[in-house]
Amino acid sequence: MTVTRSAIVGCGSYLPKRVLTNKELALTVDTDDDWIVSRTGIQKRHIAAEGECTSDLALAATREALAAAQMDADEIDLIVLATATPDQTFPSTATAVQAGLGITHGAAFDVQAVCSGFVFALAVADNFIKTGQSKCAAVIGAETFSRILDWEDRNTCVLFGDGAGAVIVKAIEGEGTSDDQGILSTHLHSDGRHQKLLYVDGGPSSTQSTGFLRMEGKEVFRHAVTNLSAVVREALEANDLSTDDLDWLIPHQANKRILDGTARKLGLSPEKVIVTVDQHANTSAASVPLALTQGVKDGRIKLGNLVLMEAMGGGFTWGACVARM
Ligand code: ACO
Repeated sequence: MTVTRSAIVGCGSYLPKRVLTNKELALTVDTDDDWIVSRTGIQKRHIAAEGECTSDLALAATREALAAAQMDADEIDLIVLATATPDQTFPSTATAVQAGLGITHGAAFDVQAVCSGFVFALAVADNFIKTGQSKCAAVIGAETFSRILDWEDRNTCVLFGDGAGAVIVKAIEGEGTSDDQGILSTHLHSDGRHQKLLYVDGGPSSTQSTGFLRMEGKEVFRHAVTNLSAVVREALEANDLSTDDLDWLIPHQANKRILDGTARKLGLSPEKVIVTVDQHANTSAASVPLALTQGVKDGRIKLGNLVLMEAMGGGFTWGACVARM
């Protein structure tokens, strides 16, 4: 039987030029390099320039993904962009990317699941492709979290950075086995009871202001390890696979200790985990495609590899995607 799958045929990323190291940050807020590295693994983050918006980061990452796929923007008929830091309340940042790519066909819209956003966006695109509504999608995670950080709050401002990652996902026909290229399955969850553990204290409808990120770090940490290991197991079981079958785990890059804790709980060797959080901190929806692109660019992730992407974010939201590259 022939089935339609969504194949990841190109990856791209973009990090703003300005790098903010832990040492520099310690000049303006009561923290130090040792504390940040030992608690989070983060060494530096990138900060968008004045006037540089989420759509600018997204467009740069998408262009790189198109080049990697050796495709023209004309071939895209769907843009799904995950962000919690859109350029404006509306129109969607995805439409700004569409205009930047110079295309007027197809659909472009944003999804909002904070740090899980890319996995949610990938699931949306995968379902559009599987039902035949789209043939080729740009799936983007892009954020400028520096704009919603309280730079006087050391509990949060040291943890995040700006960036974007994108993949081009294309319809392919196959036999539907786990050996075939493409997305095997996606798994999404939300539990709105935990909104107050990680949120922004502003918004157009509540305060008519942008607001700042607020977080109960210890609680988020506890939920993250539990939910992420559960959704990884769920995704593997759904495909009759085990952790041994995985070539790479590509986790949301929130914190090295969350990555280590999740891998330990799953009995997964740390050598199979792509880690980039040290280089760009937590970039929310951008973090999974940034890590994926890094793994592809440096040659670790190869054609035919089985990868599992997972993420968790405010809401809470969490999810996973198993794909054969
Ligand atoms: N520099 C120095 N000291 C600090 C800093 C800082 N940047 N931030 C907090 N501290 C202090 C606290 O004030 C506290 O001091 P006190 O004991 O005098 O009150 C002390 O360090 C210990 O704080 P804890 O909260 O116990 O530190 P913990 O070991 O829990 O680490 C952290 C904090 C890193 C935030 C951790 O809880 C964590 O990683 N949580 C997950 C948060 C996360 O990754 N969120 C991202 C969004 S969700 C997601 O992406 C999954």
